[in-house]
Parts: sequence; structure tokens; C-alpha cells
Amino acid sequence: MEMNDTMAAQWARRIIVTGGAGFIGSHLVRRLVQRYPQYLIINVDALTYCGNVANVADVANEPNYRFHRVDITDYEAISGLMRQYDVDGIIHLAAESHVDRSIADPFIFAKTNVLGTLTLLQAAKDHWSTSPAGFADKRFHHVSTDEVFGALPLDQPELMFSETTPYAPHSPYSASKASSDHFVRAFADTYGFPAVITNCSNNYGPYQFPEKLIPLFINNIVERRPLPVYGQGLNVRDWLYVGDHVAAIDLVFHQAANGASYNIGGFNQWSNIDLVRALIAEVDRQIGREPGADLDLITYVTDRAGHDLRYAIDSSRISRELGWKPSLTFEEGLRITVQWYLAHKDWMESITSGAYREYYKQMYENR
Ligand code: NAD
Ligand code: TYD
Repeated sequence: MEMNDTMAAQWARRIIVTGGAGFIGSHLVRRLVQRYPQYLIINVDALTYCGNVANVADVANEPNYRFHRVDITDYEAISGLMRQYDVDGIIHLAAESHVDRSIADPFIFAKTNVLGTLTLLQAAKDHWSTSPAGFADKRFHHVSTDEVFGALPLDQPELMFSETTPYAPHSPYSASKASSDHFVRAFADTYGFPAVITNCSNNYGPYQFPEKLIPLFINNIVERRPLPVYGQGLNVRDWLYVGDHVAAIDLVFHQAANGASYNIGGFNQWSNIDLVRALIAEVDRQIGREPGADLDLITYVTDRAGHDLRYAIDSSRISRELGWKPSLTFEEGLRITVQWYLAHKDWMESITSGAYREYYKQMYENR
């Protein structure tokens, strides 16, 4: 729907969420559309291999929701949307997000994650510079990862990433995200641009693309296919339920001071092999197999190149300053997540068969 500035003014805020058809973005879009009916939420997503508008089908017809299939590296298109809706907030999640893909093909990571972020920054700066209030009532929230901080040793479990940990990315993915964080800070420092950054640990939950560990393995357990554990499975990740991540984004977007950054994590470190064992037990329990019946599916495979040993986030600052804390235990989160994938086999099937790409055409292009 076309909109001029007069119509845009009826909304208390006009917020672009980039990557809103992806995993975390879809949860954020749903939360914002439902929680803030006075805001207009504009989902901007190029629908790459992992973008799926079915992830937000339940809010697609809400009056305060819009969708635009736009690539964030397209300055003209982004500027056009900024003007069309008189956008005053951007929450930026669109990215290439899978480490293994970044090892195979790093260039698209630099294009989307670095140039795409720079394009959004420049388009926002150009548009906001012309508005009467300037940057005063605007916000650019950049969603990033703990992987920018590099890796922690296994033998000092007390060491965690804080907001002041120096950047030391290892993979092409984390290098591209670190670079995008630097550009966001450069805009804040150079132009007084109203930016905030959050760096979150590994997320899990519904709608995660099944190339990532948890949804891939749930599906493989159900289908009795091998579970490819990289190396010896000793690498440690800090897992957070996606709903808790988007609650933190909501809080930081509304309450953080300009230039601030916050780490978000669950204080929930698991070695991959322990996590896989817990996942097998949970899936087996829910589908009526003897818990552990599928342990034989564990298959140790060649390690990921440059595989970061351990990530762990110290999220005490966001708890102390903004009152955020995870709402679910890992046991509850895993139970809900396994339940969801088992109850949405059609969603998984539409991805593995490729049918999800047709969904967009039916819903949007053929209207
Ligand atoms: P995802 O891969 O599920 O979704 C990414 C979305 O971005 C997709 O909908 C895709 O179509 C879209 N996209 C990709 N390139 C685009 C482009 N050039 N223009 C417009 N849209 C484009 O990713 P996710 O796991 O939901 O991660 C979202 C963000 O959160 C990313 O920035 C990621 O770095 C960050 N993050 C993820 C995790 C995690 O565990 N998944 C943890 C911390 C931070
Ligand atoms: P992943 O979900 O890809 O997230 P990230 O690499 O961003 O942490 O992987 C989580 C962990 O699981 C990571 O240590 C790599 C490992 N892994 C496997 O052992 N096998 C797999 O098939 C996948 C996808 C990941």
C-alpha cells in the first residue's frame, strides 16, 4: 500500500524491521505488531533461501503490518521506503547468518552484512538529517552476535564475553558481523547517529531454518537420520530462547541510551554433545520412543574449519540497567521447541521440499 507523509503521521512510530521473514526477525515482527497496535511495522526482507513469509503469516493481515521484498543493499529502494513511511526507527536483523555457508562462500556475507548495513545506515542518516527533529527522536538498532568476540577457552569456564571484550572474529560470518558493528559505531561516533547494538548468544526456538543445529537435529531424530556432530562435540554454546531475545531487543530499542551496546545471553552453556543427548531424550519422550533410543544416530564428522571452541555471554549489564532476564529455563525452552517442530511438520516439509518459495508467490505476487 502506498502511503504519503500525512497518512504515516497517524502511527505513533514507523519502524522498519529488516530480515523479518527470517527466524529471529519473524518473532520480533510478531511481538511488535501485536504489542504496539499504534506502531506501523514494515517488514523489509529480500527473501533469500532462508526468508519465508509463512513465518509471519499470523500477523500478515494486521492493519499495522506491511511487507516489502527489498534487498538491504539497494540504497534507492531503502531510501524510497524511508520517505514513503517517514520511518523513524530501524531494527536491523537481515543478514547471512550461517557460519558453514560463510566458510564456503564468504563474499555474500560481506555484501549483505557489511555493505547492506552501511546502506541502511546511510539511507537512514540521509532521511533523518532532513527531518525537523533531526536524529532526536530516531533510533537505529543493530542486531548482532556474540561471535564477534571470538572464542573462549574450555578450561576457564568463568570467562565470559562482556560489552568491553575486544573484538576478535574468526569465521567469515563473524568477521562480517564485526565489521557491520564497527560501521554502526563509526556512524554514532562520527555523526552523532542514534544507534544501539545488541550482541546475542545462540538462539533456538520455532521457525529456525533447519540448517542450524537444533531444528536440523530434531528433524533428523524424527526421521531416524544420522546426526552429524562436528569434531568431538566438545564445543560449547550459550543457548537462549528466541522469545527472550526479542523481548530484550524490544527493551533496548525503547530504553537504551544512544551509543549503548548490550550483551544478551542465557547464562546457559552446553557442550554440543551434551545438548544433542538432551535433545534426543526430549524428542524420544515426546514421540513415544524410549528416551535415548536414538543415541545411535550420533555420528562424529570432520570438524568445522576454525570451529570456535566456546561462546558465553555475560548479560548482567542488561539485567542490571534494563531489568531483562530470560523467562524460560532451558528445559522448558527445549520442550516447547520440540513440541512446536513436531506439531508443524508441514512447515519443515515445505522447507525441505522447497515449496516454501511458492508460498510467497501465492500470497503476494498473484494477488
Ligand atoms: P536468518 O538467516 O533466519 O534470517 C535472515 C533473514 O534476512 C532472512 O529472512 C533473509 O531473507 C533476510 N536477508 C538476507 N539477506 C538479505 C538482504 N540482502 N536484504 C534483505 N533481507 C535479507 O537469521 P536469524 O538467525 O534470524 O538472525 C537474524 C539476525 O540476528 C542476524 O543479523 C544474525 O547475525 C543475528 N543473530 C543471530 C543469532 C542466532 O543464533 N540465530 C544469534 C545472535 C545474533
Ligand atoms: P550452529 O547452529 O550452526 O550455530 P553457530 O555455528 O552460529 O554457533 O551450530 C551450533 C554448534 O553446533 C556449533 O558448535 C557447530 C555445531 N554443529 C554440529 O556439530 N553439527 C551440525 O550439523 C551443525 C549445523 C552444527
